[in-house]
Amino acid sequence: MKVSLILACAGKGTRAGFDKNKLLVTTNGERVLDKTLSVFFKSGIIDEYILACSKEDYDLISSLYKNECKIVLGGLTRTESVTNALKEVTGDIVLIHDGARPFVTEQIIKDCIDSAIKFGSGITAVPSRDTMVKVSGENIVDYLGKDGVYNVQTPQAFNFQKIKNAYAIAGDKTFNDDGEVYLNAYGDLRIVKGSVNNIKMTYAEDFSPTNNSEYHFGTGFDCHKLVENRKLILGGIEIPHDKGLLGHSDADVLTHAIMDAILSGAGLRDIGYYFPDTDENFKDADSIKLLEKVIDLAKEKGYKVQSISAVIMAQKPKLLKHIPTISENLSKVLNVEKENIGISATTLEGLGFVGREEGICVSSNVVLVKI
Ligand code: CTP
Ligand code: MG
Repeated sequence: MKVSLILACAGKGTRAGFDKNKLLVTTNGERVLDKTLSVFFKSGIIDEYILACSKEDYDLISSLYKNECKIVLGGLTRTESVTNALKEVTGDIVLIHDGARPFVTEQIIKDCIDSAIKFGSGITAVPSRDTMVKVSGENIVDYLGKDGVYNVQTPQAFNFQKIKNAYAIAGDKTFNDDGEVYLNAYGDLRIVKGSVNNIKMTYAEDFSPTNNSEYHFGTGFDCHKLVENRKLILGGIEIPHDKGLLGHSDADVLTHAIMDAILSGAGLRDIGYYFPDTDENFKDADSIKLLEKVIDLAKEKGYKVQSISAVIMAQKPKLLKHIPTISENLSKVLNVEKENIGISATTLEGLGFVGREEGICVSSNVVLVKI
């Protein structure tokens, strides 16, 4: 059973009001179209990708996706775009999806395909939360209610021969979506459970980084002893001082606290688990390299660092002037904007082991965003 995907990307994104097609806009560090495609790529169940785009976007979209997708020119309406893309389909089942719906899930994709195999069609839909009405001008002219009233989404999956035939029957008429084209031809159409998160990015506010995102918080703490004849490394930067931190690795206490914060936010084990101090490989290790591994571990679990904060507790040296350099270095390694990295330093007013300059502690918090 060969499965093809048509991704409708040939719109202009007029309502979003950007200076380019909304699908090419980056939000939360990722292009909308990359995010949408990545869900299908990761699912591993699509055999053929056909992407319909406008003339204006053709060169850019080809340069980005031509290795994975067949790129075709869309039309003035979505119906026309899908009609053009259908000509290229060679699969038995075809999924049709809006490029503007990056929050589709693998489960929805699978359910649509299963439905199309069993019933000929599978249309993602969710029950309407609100009462739906029909409006003409300023007046409500009919109550559709909410019982049995659904909001239709994509993907929509079909038996390819049947949807091809349905489009032939439809002629030049414009339809709301592919499901309606199918319904028009066969009089039956099967729904599949969608998700309220599977929104179509339509207005500028849908692109706000705080919208539609799932955030996770992590916390980390570390402490190392200050001794003579060791370098003092904080956030990968060597700080001039007459003492340094003792440890199996380079004892970069700041980086370690950040690593534990990221790991905890991602629901993973702590740094001692991944980088045990009994392992000779980590002797004198550059902690920044270990941080890079932690970022990869978090990424494998589907997380990206959104922001970091840390407080360094040290009686000496004065860290104020080094903090911008440390932040800049961490910003590069973490691929997080500098304004999303907040590092502060404090003495402990001479109290305790930190006050006696016997050690330095760091406490860190991180916000991770689900990618
Ligand atoms: N689409 C398409 N061809 C068109 C119009 C739309 O392939 N002629 C695609 C869009 O790129 C989008 C999807 O259909 O992925 C859903 O359409 P919509 O959200 O309306 O996107 P736009 O048409 O781009 O936005 P607007 O209506 O605000 O201009
Ligand atoms: Mg449109």
